[in-house]
Amino acid sequence: MTVADPTSSKDSLRDALGRPLRSLRLSVTDRCNLRCSYCMPEPDYVWLPKKELLTFEELDRITGIFCTLGVDKVRLTGGEPLLRSEITTLVRELARRPAVRDLAMTTNGVLLAERARALREAGLRRLTVSLDTLRPERFLALTRADHHARVLAGIEAGRAEGFPLKLDTVVVRGTNEDEMLDLLAFAREIGAEIRFIEYMDVGGATRWTREQVVSRAEMLQAISATHGAVEPVGAQGSDPAERFRLPDGTTFGIIASTTTPFCRACDRSRLTADGTWYTCLYARSGANLRAALRSGASDAEIASLLRVGWRARTDRGAEQRLQLEQRGALAGRPELRQDPRLEMHTRGG
Ligand code: GTP
Ligand code: 5AD
Ligand code: SF4
Repeated sequence: MTVADPTSSKDSLRDALGRPLRSLRLSVTDRCNLRCSYCMPEPDYVWLPKKELLTFEELDRITGIFCTLGVDKVRLTGGEPLLRSEITTLVRELARRPAVRDLAMTTNGVLLAERARALREAGLRRLTVSLDTLRPERFLALTRADHHARVLAGIEAGRAEGFPLKLDTVVVRGTNEDEMLDLLAFAREIGAEIRFIEYMDVGGATRWTREQVVSRAEMLQAISATHGAVEPVGAQGSDPAERFRLPDGTTFGIIASTTTPFCRACDRSRLTADGTWYTCLYARSGANLRAALRSGASDAEIASLLRVGWRARTDRGAEQRLQLEQRGALAGRPELRQDPRLEMHTRGG
């Protein structure tokens, strides 16, 4: 397990394209209580075996190791992270780590109303809630669950607890592109920053077609046609979202991973709930850290493994997808069933 590693300073850790390791996305469960058509459109799924899910102790330990390599941003995702009971215990542990300067969660909001206060008290700093529509009947069609009111209540609870809030909207042509302006107005009203996300051909998006992608350019056009010229805000850095300001001061973001990828600045690592480490959303394979954690490897040995893996990283999955002439779903249903870790809901939305 020990790998020769002459330099161990986190400042010197760069991947093969010169990118640092700053952000860690922990998918704490692959289960979800919604079935969004852009993410989980199939009738049934193969789940990760329960006994292979990392315990909170393991998640906390591995986070600590990632922090020694430069990670200072941690995001809890799923599936739906609030389905993991006692998630606030994990939040509390992670929030105690001084190296974790940013601790956030991406949730669909269904269970948020009953958890928001405990999450805040446990030390969660920020919340991102997925919200694709303001119409209950459309929500039902899009997610196959009648939980729209609960999501809105969850968002309200997050606001009431004082969380800085972001809303994530995947814009799909023929589904919700007619609601962009209403969603923007809703976000402004509640003091959240909304990000419009291009529909991505990630694993799990088995119904993806190029025609359904509403591009960044189209989104900007639709918004400025009503609100007037929008201006860019600040530099994008390593954030997936480009931020813009309306003439009235409202800010919003666009995440254009499909037409304008940000791979050149990508500083992200992803861990599935069973401890598989991916260095790209589109990667075909990952490293089994669960085996290392459970085989008695020391922190230093695991850190070496990560360092070697990060140095070798050449991933720029979204950019490579852009170069394809024939572009369809990343993986077909049989392939996804054989390796559920290819799914966006398994490797963290
Ligand atoms: P903060 O900056 O920490 O607020 O979060 P974020 O902007 O990274 O946003 P979040 O994690 O909520 O991700 C929003 C969306 O960006 C995801 O749902 C994806 O559609 C897209 N996205 C997230 N991570 C990646 C990534 O690693 N690669 C690509 N290409 N797209 C991503
Ligand atoms: N395209 C873009 N974003 C997606 N997500 C899941 N599937 C896709 C996709 N095909 C992201 C969305 C959603 C979160 C749970 O995962 O941001 O809100
Ligand atoms: Fe990073 Fe891969 Fe996403 Fe590009 S596609 S931004 S390299 S995770």
